[in-house]
Amino acid sequence: MNDTSRPVCDYEGSGYRTDFWEGQGREYEDLAERAALRRLLPPAGRRIVHLGAGFGRMTNELGGYDQVIVLDYSRTMLREAQALLGTDDRYVYVAADIFHLPLADGSCDAALMERVIHHLADVPAALRQIRAVLAPGAPFVLEYANKRNLKAIVRHALGRQDWDPFDQEPVEFVALNFDFHPDYMERCLHEAGFETERRLAVSYLRLALLKQRVPVGLLVALDRLLQPSGKWGAYSPSVFTLNRAEGDTPPAALDGPLFKCLTCGGPLRREDDTLVCARGCGRWAIRDGLYDFKEALPV
Ligand SMILES: C[S@@+](CC[C@H](N)C(=O)[O-])C[C@H]1O[C@@H](n2cnc3c(N)ncnc32)[C@H](O)[C@@H]1O
Ligand SMILES: [Zn+2]
Repeated sequence: MNDTSRPVCDYEGSGYRTDFWEGQGREYEDLAERAALRRLLPPAGRRIVHLGAGFGRMTNELGGYDQVIVLDYSRTMLREAQALLGTDDRYVYVAADIFHLPLADGSCDAALMERVIHHLADVPAALRQIRAVLAPGAPFVLEYANKRNLKAIVRHALGRQDWDPFDQEPVEFVALNFDFHPDYMERCLHEAGFETERRLAVSYLRLALLKQRVPVGLLVALDRLLQPSGKWGAYSPSVFTLNRAEGDTPPAALDGPLFKCLTCGGPLRREDDTLVCARGCGRWAIRDGLYDFKEALPV
């Protein structure tokens, strides 16, 4: 079960795919984000974890990786991802909470998390979990919602918004929806054991008028031109960063087992359609190709 001290923004049963993306006029955002991701993420590797993958909108960008862990808290989102991406063995679907990752230390050589951290109420704790599952030197592409964006700066200057976009603390503008200052995020990444190597400013042109009048191909081309300016200062609504896992620990475990016990951190063994802790502290179900760590089965 989820630790109630860290509430999860629950997408179980949500219409996120159809209500927010499909046919909702967000081709520009989608394509600009893909362009940023292609610039930052090494195109190939062994095992990548896509955290908060949702219905797998961006997962098809990870085609060069031998194994892709598609992880989300929502089972229904994961079922949609399965329908979109298929049941090829290369994809491993995992229902789990980012604050309690059931993945073995050092078991992945890359990670991607976009449009998720704005739902996480404890950024340092989430980043520590992610750092632990990565091998030394692994890239972590993180996208976050930027509170220091042009629209917020103008609105604050005109007195239409009470929070200050230059203040470094996260702002929770709606329950479990946060915007972050780039310096705050970089500091949290550093404290969790990441060094930020690159920063791209994404979606500067996210304005209804522009999206109505300018062809999407041109908007995306302009966005691509603007993205590298994030190196000097990001004032865009979305920021993509490439972060490197620093230090020697945990040792790389890319050939080892993927999962660990959520209770003791020890190894799990497969028994029929369950994963069982070798030390006897828990069991988790595997249902139609979905490893379900949302709640343990009765022991
Ligand atoms: C706005 S959607 C983004 C989905 C996908 N990354 C995309 O860009 O299309 C946020 C996703 O984060 C997931 N999520 C939120 N909190 C989570 C947590 N604590 N652990 C795992 N997933 C979480 C939600 O279930 C949801 O699918
Ligand atoms: Zn255990």
